[in-house]
Amino acid sequence: MNQRKNVYQLPAGDTTLEWYGKAVMAMKKRPTKDPTSWNYQAAIHGFNSTLPFWQGVGKTPGRTEKNEFWNQCQHGSWFFLPWHRMYLAYFEQIVAQTIVSLGGPAGWALPFWNYSDSTNPHALTMPPAFTKPGNAANGLWMDGRESNSIDPRYVTLGALDTIPFTGDGRTSPLGFGGPETTFSHSGRTHGELESLPHDMVHVAIGGAMGDPRTAALDPIFWLHHANIDRLWQVWLNKGNNRENPTESAWLDLEFDFHDKTGAKAQMKAANVLDTRNVLSGYTYQGVAPAAPALAPVNLLQRPDFSTPLEIVAATNKQLSLSSARTTVQLKLSPAQRKKENFAAVTAALATPPKTFLHFENITGKGIPPIHDVYLNAPDGGKGRESYYAGSLSFFGVEEASTPSLHQSGSGQHYCLDVTSLMNKLRSLPNWNEQQLDISIDPIRPMAKGTSVKIGRISLYTE
Ligand code: C2O
Repeated sequence: MNQRKNVYQLPAGDTTLEWYGKAVMAMKKRPTKDPTSWNYQAAIHGFNSTLPFWQGVGKTPGRTEKNEFWNQCQHGSWFFLPWHRMYLAYFEQIVAQTIVSLGGPAGWALPFWNYSDSTNPHALTMPPAFTKPGNAANGLWMDGRESNSIDPRYVTLGALDTIPFTGDGRTSPLGFGGPETTFSHSGRTHGELESLPHDMVHVAIGGAMGDPRTAALDPIFWLHHANIDRLWQVWLNKGNNRENPTESAWLDLEFDFHDKTGAKAQMKAANVLDTRNVLSGYTYQGVAPAAPALAPVNLLQRPDFSTPLEIVAATNKQLSLSSARTTVQLKLSPAQRKKENFAAVTAALATPPKTFLHFENITGKGIPPIHDVYLNAPDGGKGRESYYAGSLSFFGVEEASTPSLHQSGSGQHYCLDVTSLMNKLRSLPNWNEQQLDISIDPIRPMAKGTSVKIGRISLYTE
């Protein structure tokens, strides 16, 4: 049984990262067609030879093999968590075996990067081994990253408070784990944990990490995903009706991989429910491997979404984002206002209805920067922060906008829970019953050739 450790708590003199770097170098030397090579492992997640991070690929497997084993990552789907757990487990085995073949110790386990750890002053910065030295002699370094550190707003863990695993963000709020789908390489609506912090960390680091078709080429990808995988168990351990899906459609869909010997292998969610049973088994430092006995049902929490969402307002034309702030007014019609003005009526309820801001039919090109969304915010100054509604990562937007074998190409859909911000806005003296001002700020300029279009912005309430 392996223990995956917090990368910031590795003891002095620990060689986990040193051996990881050596294994990366060794895996990079293997030909792309070898399933245990660095390129092949990254291509399982996503591959597109036109993207600049794919260099020196050489011969690739034939079409049939590619269709079966490459471009398999599950996003915008309830398979997001189990698929990445399987993917990490095989990868970890391959790295461990490579380390042994290089004369290193047995039992190597992936460390995790807990960027949300407020007790660690360095948590928001990538471990220095990944950035220094900043050259190709360092197996853990990756050229072209936009940033080595992350804004604390992009690693908050509100997702852990969500009880249901599944929600589609349309007829119901988002679920913790993602919407019910079939095989979903580039799904439309990402679940809560996937949206935040997962997607944000990808795009905040940027470069290869900013696009699913190159992300796994960056060695930090694997520490990021070990952390996301850990958070799945942290969520389960919080109990109070937090449960994995029990449907066969989730448990039994098989995914294709190769094991450390290069032999074909299959795995399904039912095989990875307990981390101690995944291949040779692992646990996370500081996390109980199994949820404590279920807490009694607390009726003040809502374990399911019984109330469908109703639309209260929507924009009526497509919006293109640019390198400058984009503002848009959402008109609340009188009839809509009546529905929307539920605060007083529901203040007495234990669980007041929630309000969600949707960004629909988002299509784009390239890797757009993260955009921060504010409601009724003043134009500048520090005060703006208290009007922050959430952010849009656009992780994977180009792929989600492009039809292919593995996805429909219909774009992305974001859903921000703005319940508490809206309640606050309503209590302010300048609250305007007829209009909500939305502003969308890019955190850096759009690179050349990059674009994003939002089909519609809408406000929904339970
Ligand atoms: Cu499949 Cu973090 O991406």
